[in-house]
Amino acid sequence: MTNFTWKTIVFFCNLAVVICNLGVEIGDLIDRSSHKVSGKVYAVDNTRLHIKGFTYDGEGPDAFFWINKKDGSSTVDGNGQKMADEMGSLGILGKYENKDITLELPRGLEVTDIKYLSVWCKQFGVNFGDIIFPDNVQPPQAKSIGQFSELAHGLRSGEVVILDEKTLMVNNLHYDGQGPDAFFLAGTGDSVRYYDGITKIPDETGSLAILKKYTGQTITLTLPDPLTVKSIDWVSMWCIQANQNFGDVKMPDESELTNIPPYFPRIMMKELENCEQLDSTVNAAWEIDGAMITIDMSAKLDEGDYISFGLSGNADSVAMINADVTVGFIDEGTYKAQDYYLNAKAGCSSGRGACPDITQDGADDVMDVQGRMVDGITSIRYTRPLGTGDSKDRNITLGTEMAVVWGIGRLGLNKLVTYHSKKTAELKKVNFGRTAMRNCPNLNTGNDGPAPTPWKKIELFGAMNNTFTAKIGPTGGKQGYEALTGRPSWGIAWYINNILIPEVYVVRNTTYKFIINGGNDPVNSAKNHPFYLTSSPDGGYIQLGADERKEERVFAGVEDGNATAAGSLCQYKESAGIKPSYATFDEYFDNLQELCDEPKEPAVFEWTPDADTPDVVYYQCFTHKYLGWKMRVVDEMPTSSSSTTVAAMITLLLNYLMTRLLR
Ligand SMILES: *[C@@H]1O[C@H](CO)[C@@H](O)[C@H](O)[C@H]1NC(C)=O
Ligand SMILES: *[C@@H]1O[C@H](CO)[C@@H](O)[C@H](O)[C@H]1NC(C)=O
Ligand SMILES: *[C@@H]1O[C@H](CO)[C@@H](O)[C@H](O)[C@H]1NC(C)=O
Repeated sequence: MTNFTWKTIVFFCNLAVVICNLGVEIGDLIDRSSHKVSGKVYAVDNTRLHIKGFTYDGEGPDAFFWINKKDGSSTVDGNGQKMADEMGSLGILGKYENKDITLELPRGLEVTDIKYLSVWCKQFGVNFGDIIFPDNVQPPQAKSIGQFSELAHGLRSGEVVILDEKTLMVNNLHYDGQGPDAFFLAGTGDSVRYYDGITKIPDETGSLAILKKYTGQTITLTLPDPLTVKSIDWVSMWCIQANQNFGDVKMPDESELTNIPPYFPRIMMKELENCEQLDSTVNAAWEIDGAMITIDMSAKLDEGDYISFGLSGNADSVAMINADVTVGFIDEGTYKAQDYYLNAKAGCSSGRGACPDITQDGADDVMDVQGRMVDGITSIRYTRPLGTGDSKDRNITLGTEMAVVWGIGRLGLNKLVTYHSKKTAELKKVNFGRTAMRNCPNLNTGNDGPAPTPWKKIELFGAMNNTFTAKIGPTGGKQGYEALTGRPSWGIAWYINNILIPEVYVVRNTTYKFIINGGNDPVNSAKNHPFYLTSSPDGGYIQLGADERKEERVFAGVEDGNATAAGSLCQYKESAGIKPSYATFDEYFDNLQELCDEPKEPAVFEWTPDADTPDVVYYQCFTHKYLGWKMRVVDEMPTSSSSTTVAAMITLLLNYLMTRLLR
């Protein structure tokens, strides 16, 4: 073990007196236009870079750290994207003189993907200095060292990972919180034991208080100075009073730790004064500054997910309609947030539905967006005025309890929200102007359990009397529409002959009748779903621009750009006792109820596919994307003796019976 403290080592590193670990050297920044750009670049790990002695004169009007992915060429061309500075800011770079800085790549990018790092003047497209990454960079690597042993008090964990010389990440940690005096300890020696001079490791919040319960959180522990993973032999959760080891994990031999990343503190966002847990998986934090409020929305998010948070449409209850929310997401490695107003319970279509303010004559009042991922939890931070004066925002009034809403789901086309997969379950009210208080345990990151098995796709080989009915119904969550189509859903989809998005077979030169009850209320987007047949796997014709319309072939249901087949609305709804999953669609369907608007007036049309009709067309909704699915156009109905045919006959029969029963 070493005698000088960690700080001393860093000091020595700065003086380059001892050889110490800054990561894997990539090379030197080269000045390209007399802005004094220099510094030696290291890969800290696969997502961070360290620049030793970074220098830049700060004279450029619009210069940023800029990176691009490998693309076969080795030119520095300004393609690619900005990279945040050592403080996590995307602002214009100032002056640096021989400064050691650590930079984090945009989320999702890895050092081995990178072609170059440059100081790039965006406004003038000028390269101030760069380094081209060689092809064979092998950054230091985190190392997995197994799980905590499970000795007492329900302590168990997923993998424990050495992130760097001083940081351990413990995945999916469980502990019943019942130990009277439990701490994480870092010790040396072959046996795990308590001894004089042993070091307590602060918990994931930096506190040395007695450990509380863990229910599947992922946490990171930073070894206090002067310890490193190389200078200790084990980490234990230990109850001092009872002199008992609840479980431990051993450090590998030093020879196995030669390639681990060096320690550089991670960039953190300042903690906001207030925080409330909204659900075991979602936190909202905030801080008021004059007439502005800064809000963090936190949850486990992947690229392509969104999180939304804001004021309920009603001050005293959970109401999605008229809710004013901010939607945060990750877009090609950059954290973004957008101001939304929910004017109807539907996907956004021409400013109706869950739409950004800017699509409904409002303004985007969300600013200063930033984000971080720490311990598997993503936080997206934004600032907005308490009162915006925009008709598409609700004012945040201090001193009163206001109902809040949140949701998490997948982004669809054009980075617009689709139907949430998780949302506000119970009424939560917040007084944003309260005396500051943080009321947010760490969020669970453990698995939600295995994903439910997707339902089998159902094929519909024609129909009795060549007649199809089309109504609206729920998508069946992850087992239904999303699994069958691989597309995000807005929570509703077409039911053809009472089946959720079947693959429908039709024969050329045969005339089919379509009876549509999709809803035809032009002022309520949630009740307006005209049916049409198209070449587009997405649908939503009304949302397309003129050029996109030209690329789409419409076969039925649209004339002169207008929908012709809507009909009054018949919609299946999940009954109150609906379960999270069902083995088959049929079982699910048994738990749906059909509700029809009166008077029940379907739109009816006939369609004859012909030689000119492609082999695959889609039935879709004119106003919303992602409601329909495939129709296979064949010259002859498949009639092999295979079991599909038997299934098809049964389906036909069932359909017939059902249509009869429901009529
Ligand atoms: C909301 O706040 C704005 C700006 O402070 C103010 O002009 C507006 O009157 C407020 N609206 C309501 C309904 O209180
Ligand atoms: C189509 O809709 C537009 C705009 O609502 C309308 O002006 C036009 O007359 C409609 N065309 C037909 C054929 O209905
Ligand atoms: C459909 O009718 C057209 C024109 O009569 C004919 O050329 C074609 O072969 C027919 N196709 C089928 C599958 O019957």
